[in-house]
Amino acid sequence: MSDEKAQRKLPTLESLVTLCKRRGFIFQSSEIYGGYAGFFDYGPLGAELKKNIKDAWWRAMVHERDEIVGIDSTIIMHPEIWRASGHVEGFNDPMVDCRESKKRYRADQLFFSPVKVDGNVIGYVSVEESGTMQAEAGEKANELKRKQAVQGTLEAIELKEYTEASPEEYALIPSPATGKPGSLTPPRQFNLMFETQVGPLADASSKSYLRPETAQGIFQNFKNVVDTGRVKIPFGIAQIGKAFRNEITPRNFIFRSREFEQMEIEYFIDPDEETWPRVYQEWIETCKQWLYSIGIPEDMVGEDVHPQEKLSHYSKGTTDLTFTFPFGTQELWGIACRGNFDLGQHQKHSGKSMEFFDEARKEKYIPHVVEPSLGVDRTLLAVLTAAYCEDEVPNDKGVPETRTVLKFHPSIAPFKAAVFPLLKNKEELVGTARELYRKLQRRWNVAWDVGGAIGRRYRRQDEIGTPFCITIDFDTIEKDQTVTIRDRDTTEQVRIHLDEVEAWLSERIYA
Ligand code: GAP
Repeated sequence: MSDEKAQRKLPTLESLVTLCKRRGFIFQSSEIYGGYAGFFDYGPLGAELKKNIKDAWWRAMVHERDEIVGIDSTIIMHPEIWRASGHVEGFNDPMVDCRESKKRYRADQLFFSPVKVDGNVIGYVSVEESGTMQAEAGEKANELKRKQAVQGTLEAIELKEYTEASPEEYALIPSPATGKPGSLTPPRQFNLMFETQVGPLADASSKSYLRPETAQGIFQNFKNVVDTGRVKIPFGIAQIGKAFRNEITPRNFIFRSREFEQMEIEYFIDPDEETWPRVYQEWIETCKQWLYSIGIPEDMVGEDVHPQEKLSHYSKGTTDLTFTFPFGTQELWGIACRGNFDLGQHQKHSGKSMEFFDEARKEKYIPHVVEPSLGVDRTLLAVLTAAYCEDEVPNDKGVPETRTVLKFHPSIAPFKAAVFPLLKNKEELVGTARELYRKLQRRWNVAWDVGGAIGRRYRRQDEIGTPFCITIDFDTIEKDQTVTIRDRDTTEQVRIHLDEVEAWLSERIYA
C-alpha cells in the first residue's frame, strides 16, 4: 500500500450526502412528495460540477483527438434496435421478492450460508452484499446457535450467492428483512429496460424503450458518420447522454440510480487479431490518465480484469477501472472489446450493410470495436469522495479550527474563483471588486461574496471547493493596485497586480 493510500481517510457516504444537500450539489428527486428511489436532481453547484466533468471528458476525448467525433442521438429509438442488441432478450438481473416484507433483492447481491454445528445444519443465514457481510453473517449464525441452545463448534460461514441456492434451499433461507425462512421467492429474471408507448395507440405495436445505454445510438449511426465524416479506421464515435435502467436495488446515492448519464466511445478498429489487444491496453491507460487529470488520485484507481469464463461469447476482454468509494471498491469505468457483435447484429436486423471499405487495405469488413464506457454520476461521486477533506486551519484570530474542504481540481471546480471586497459598505472597494468580478465572469464561473468576515467567506468557499479567493482591500485602491489571492488547499496568500489576475488564474486552472 502506498503511503498516500495508507494516510487517506475516506469520508463516509453520509457526510457526502449531507454536504451535497446542504450546499446545493445534489437533492433527492421529488423530495416534497417524499422522494423517488433511484432518482436524483443536481442543484446549482452540482449542475456546474457535472457540466465541468462532461466538458473535460469531451475536450480530452473529442476535441483533442483527431480521430474521434461526437454525436447526440435520441433517447427513444426504434424498438428493433433493442432486439438486435440483445437487450430485450437478455438485459436482465435476477430478482428475489420477500413475500412478507415486500422487499426486493437482486439475487446476485443476496448471500446465504447453511449454519453448521459439528457437521449438522441447524439453519440458514442470509445477508445483503456489503463490505461487512461476512461479519454480519457470523453474528447471525451465533445468534441462531444461541437461540436453539445447541452445544458444539460452529463451523466457518461460507457465503454463496442466492443464485446458487438449490430449490430445496429457497424455503429454508431466511429473508434479511424478517429473519424468518419461507418468504423468499426463487430468483426470476427481471428486464431492466423502462418501457413506454410511442404514438396514440397503447398496444403491443407501440411498445418502445428508454435507452439503457448510449452505445446503441452510436452503432445505429455508424453508417451516417462513415458516409459524412471522412473517417478512416481506426476512429471513434463519442456520445454523452442520459440512460435509464429500472434497477432492482438502486443504492449508494448516485452510484447506482435509475436515471443517469453515460460518456461512451465506440472505437472502431480493423479485425486483425493483433490489433485489439494493443488498442484495448491503450484505452485502459488513456482512461486512467483522464481520471488523474481531473484530480482523482492514482492510488484510488484499480483494475478489475474480467476472467475469460465470465465474458459474453462475443467479448474478447473486459477490464473495469475501479475506484475506492466510501462503501468499497467498485466499478467506475468499463473498457470492453466487443468484436463486431453490435454492428453485425444491426446489419442482420436492419438489412443494411455495416461494412467499411478500408482504403489502406483495399478491403471491406465489419469493424471491431473497443468500448470505454463511463458513468457521469459515478465519476462525480468519485470526484466528491477524493476531494472531501476535513482539516485544521487557523481562523481570523489565529486559533486552529476544523474546516470541511472540497479539494477539487480547479478545472472541474463549480466556481474557479471568488471575489471579495474587504468591506461591503466602502463604495471604492466594492466598485473595483465588481469590475474584476465582471471581467473574470466573461471567462469562468466566479463567485461574489460580501457577507461577513473574510475568514467566514473563506470557509464558505472551501466547503464548495472554490480553489482561489481574491480580496480587494485598501492597498488595492490606495497604494499599488495589488490584490490578495488565497489558495484553498495550502491557505497561503500571494499579492499580485489586478491586471495579472486573469493570467495567474488561467495558468492554474488548466495546469
Ligand atoms: N455500453 C456498455 C455499458 O453500458 P455498463 O457497464 O452497463 O456498460 C457503463 O455501464 C458505465 O455506466 C458503468 O461503468 C457505470 O459507470 C455507469 N452505470 C451503469 N449503470 C449505472 C447506474 N444504474 N447508475 C449510475 N451509473 C451507472
